[in-house]
Amino acid sequence: MEFNVKTGHPEKQRTNCIVVGIFENRKLSAIAEKLDTIAENFISNLLKKGDLEGNLGQTLLLHHVPNVLSDRILLVGCGRERELGDKEFREIIRKATNAILQTGATEIVSFLTELAVKGRDNRWKIRQAVMLTLETLYSFDNYKTKKDKARRTLRRVILTVPTRRDLALGERAALEGQAIASGLSLAKDLGNTPPNICTPIFLAKSAENLAAEFPSINTAILDEKDMASLKMGALLSVGKGSQNPPRLITLEYRGRKDKQKPIVLVGKGITFDTGGNSLKPAMSMIGMKYDMCGAASVLGALRAAAELELPLNIIGVIAAAENMPGSKASRPEDVVTSMSGLTIEILNTDAEGRLVLCDALTYSERFDPEVVIDIATLTNACVMALGSHTSGLFGNHNPLVNDLFNAGLTSGDKCWQLPVWDEYQDALNSPFADIANIGNPPEAGAILAACFLSRFTKKYDWAHLDIAGTAWRGGKDRAATGRPVSLLVQYLLDRCQKIKEG
Ligand code: BES
Ligand code: MN
Ligand code: ZN
Repeated sequence: MEFNVKTGHPEKQRTNCIVVGIFENRKLSAIAEKLDTIAENFISNLLKKGDLEGNLGQTLLLHHVPNVLSDRILLVGCGRERELGDKEFREIIRKATNAILQTGATEIVSFLTELAVKGRDNRWKIRQAVMLTLETLYSFDNYKTKKDKARRTLRRVILTVPTRRDLALGERAALEGQAIASGLSLAKDLGNTPPNICTPIFLAKSAENLAAEFPSINTAILDEKDMASLKMGALLSVGKGSQNPPRLITLEYRGRKDKQKPIVLVGKGITFDTGGNSLKPAMSMIGMKYDMCGAASVLGALRAAAELELPLNIIGVIAAAENMPGSKASRPEDVVTSMSGLTIEILNTDAEGRLVLCDALTYSERFDPEVVIDIATLTNACVMALGSHTSGLFGNHNPLVNDLFNAGLTSGDKCWQLPVWDEYQDALNSPFADIANIGNPPEAGAILAACFLSRFTKKYDWAHLDIAGTAWRGGKDRAATGRPVSLLVQYLLDRCQKIKEG
């Protein structure tokens, strides 16, 4: 799919379809008004007949509109003009895209990016429009013998900006939207891939594929022997119950020639979480192939960064393992020694995410990081607290936490801070080791998991995103969402902006 940014008059577009907005109570947007005048009130007359009220997400396709060069006009309901915010804009783009896909249009010119969205500029609108259009097109049928035969004729989307001065930033924004979408798509594909295929070695291969595609990315893959010599006892204890051996995957993206300290992204890559010997009930296991979505988001964010050639240094660290039960797997009450030297009593083998992450976090020290952000489908407690709209956000450095929070608002991939206060830490005491891997009492499980991680992140500025509720949708339409790729890329874009401004 090709995206372009242009300026122009709606009636003069010689294209398959132009897309314009109508507000509630049949109020024409500025562009629709212009068209209507030239089309001798064709549109307003139709609206008077009651065919489109302008409610959010309504669509109406018109043909043969007088004095207009485009084959079709798609009218899209935009709701109340004064209430047009982020959420409404996203809905408008999604609905418009779906309506266009029902037609045979191969090229469209959308004027929706000229709608005024509260507090948002052209760059934001174009980035979002491109990203959402591509997201609407995403499907995953790699493992279906009968592919969805939906006719996909759309090849070129032209988004408009009001003036020629807006063109340069608009083009850049379109590239950003495409890069984010391609990162999202990679993350979704990896998440959706079945766990008998998507193993730790498969994740390592995906990292290597990324490095092969982008010269700016290099990888290093550690196997069990390598991890044993680094004394990663916690990570190894999770992997040892499985036939599919664990891997520690490092990706290095160099977007700068200087020695700027890297941003380190650490992803939980449990390719399937049975719970181990603390086995999950059958129904709780459905969805546990998505337990590597943190890892997938690291790969997705790096892909987007490399596509955009962001002037940053970024390191991805992925702790990949499969959590299986059996005689080779750890049992509750085992004590293991982490790479940091801290001993851990494993009281529940289903709290495995923190075990693989703690060694990856200690390992991250060697990169002398600017910041470390880990991303993990870590706790069901986080799903209970925040549901599926909001990721949990934790950290030991408020400026970093605030940056991530704001990147969430901008991207729409939102997160909300929960505390990592000292009062919670005592719940992790163990009579037999330095720390237990679950809390007693167990309340505030998402916070306790973050407290556990915080014991391993004292040497740098750190934040943790618990994406257990946001990385995938359950139920009948079970699917990876690709979250929090857009949050992470927005954070990276904001970093670039800050560095540029000094
Ligand atoms: N991968 C799960 C967390 C999870 C649960 C993600 C549901 C998505 C949906 C994690 O490894 C886990 O099992 N956590 C336990 C921790 C508990 C044993 C302290 C949990 O949340 O129940
Ligand atoms: Mn688990
Ligand atoms: Zn897990």
